[in-house]
Formats: sequence, structure tokens, C-alpha cells
Amino acid sequence: MADRLRVGMYQFSPRLGDREGNLAAIEAGLAGVEADLVVLPELATSGYALPSREAAAAVAESPGSAGLTRLQALAESLGAALLLGLPLAENGKLFNAAALLRPAAPPVFYRKLHLFYREGEVFDPGDRPAPVEDVAGARVGVMICFDWVFPELARSLALAGAELLAHPSNLVLPGFAQAAMVTRAVENRVFAITCNRVGEERYPDEERSLRFTGLSQALDPRGRPLLQFGETDTRRGVVTLDLAEARDKRITPRNHLFADRRPEHYGPLTAPLSDGRES
Ligand code: ACM
Repeated sequence: MADRLRVGMYQFSPRLGDREGNLAAIEAGLAGVEADLVVLPELATSGYALPSREAAAAVAESPGSAGLTRLQALAESLGAALLLGLPLAENGKLFNAAALLRPAAPPVFYRKLHLFYREGEVFDPGDRPAPVEDVAGARVGVMICFDWVFPELARSLALAGAELLAHPSNLVLPGFAQAAMVTRAVENRVFAITCNRVGEERYPDEERSLRFTGLSQALDPRGRPLLQFGETDTRRGVVTLDLAEARDKRITPRNHLFADRRPEHYGPLTAPLSDGRES
């Protein structure tokens, strides 16, 4: 168990469909970084507004694919774990995934559980729980972008031992997620890193473009910013987390964040909808 974790984030503008260019941008952007973990945006190797399943499949990675092999080599050469979003092709399915690539370790994938807007036309929804993994002696829980609006996921990760929520993103709603992640950090007493992207993309059959909101941030367990980027800048930064702050779940001498919960009264939280509201 480590006391400290050096965590970096790299906010940039991936180019839609340009897998080679995006891999080169990631390699250049991370050159010389000194960190235990670097978090990058959602769909960092492919861009976001993939117009069809075929277009996404054409730029997807999978274990042993050229892109994933290159990213693993980058993690090895930097001596740092990388967490980045990419399309993942697996057993006939296609996921909006995050790959955790650690030196000398097999890749771990998170398959996005809550698909946003038109992602459901292209990707299959994730089919297993989000991971909490060891990174240089810290416990890191993974979520992707729109997952922020489902506090159940952040709570599940914290209950599974996450000390840091690592959150590759392609956020387009103005500032909501960055604000909500302050609450996710406070209500779970965890660090939270949202690495968003910048730039604009457009679905070919839509007039309005999607403008990504930047404002990547690293928060401490009291929701205070340790590092914040602007709305449009391409930027990299590293902060050191004092993990003891996330391990102490006592809010007062008489209150414990997890032990004080009353899950026997939270039934609707885990029950499927049964009244037709989903339609
Ligand atoms: C999102 O989930 N990319 C907003």
C-alpha cells in the first residue's frame, strides 16, 4: 500500500477517425512525464462522433492490436500506468471502453455502463462491474464520462475500495459533470480525476457540432481542486495525492461514511424500473 500517488492528466483534442495521428499525439503529449498514472480522455484513440458501428469497428482496439501494443509499450517506457478511452472490439461486441495499461501487467478494461446520446447506436453497453485496480499501491476505480450522472457507480467503486475515481471523459454539457464530481469526491471521500477533451466534432447528419468542454480537474476528497485546466487548452499536469486523506472515512468521531449507511432502506436504488417509466 502506497502513501502517495503521482497522477497526471493530458487534455487534448483527438481527431475523429485518425487512429495513427491520435496515437502519435498521445506519445508526444506524454513524452518525459513523471507519474505513477496518467489519465487521458474518453475515446482518445478514435475521436467521439463515430457515425456508425462500422466506423467505430475500423478504429477499434483489442488485446494484441497494433494500437494497444503501442500504448502498452508507451506505459512500459514511461514507467507509468495509462488510463485512456478507446473503442474495444471483443467477441463480436464493440464497447466504449477505458484501458488501464500498467507496466509489466496485462491490460484491464472497463466497458462503459451508461451510454450517452447516440453512443448506443454504435456501442454495446458494458456487461460487467467497473473495476477497482491496484496502481503503484493505490486503489483506482474507473468510470467513463456520462457515468458521472449515476452516483450509484461512484459509490460502488468507493465501497469496493477505490481511493481515486479516474474518469476519462468527452463532456459536452457545460460544466455539469465537473461540478457534480466535486460531490462524488466529497460523498465518497475519494480523490477524483476527470480528464476531459477539447475541440469540436459533428455527426455527419446533424447541423450542430458537439463542443467538448475541457476543464479537466483533479479533486481531493474534500472536493478541493488540486489541478484544473481551461476550456480550450491542450495541457498536461501532474499532482501528488496523499492517499491517507481518502482512507479515513470518519466524518466526525461519531460518523463513518460507509458504516452509517442504511442500505436496507435504499431498495429502489437497485430495483429495476417496473412502472413503464423507461419508455
Ligand atoms: C459522454 O458520456 N461522452 C458525455
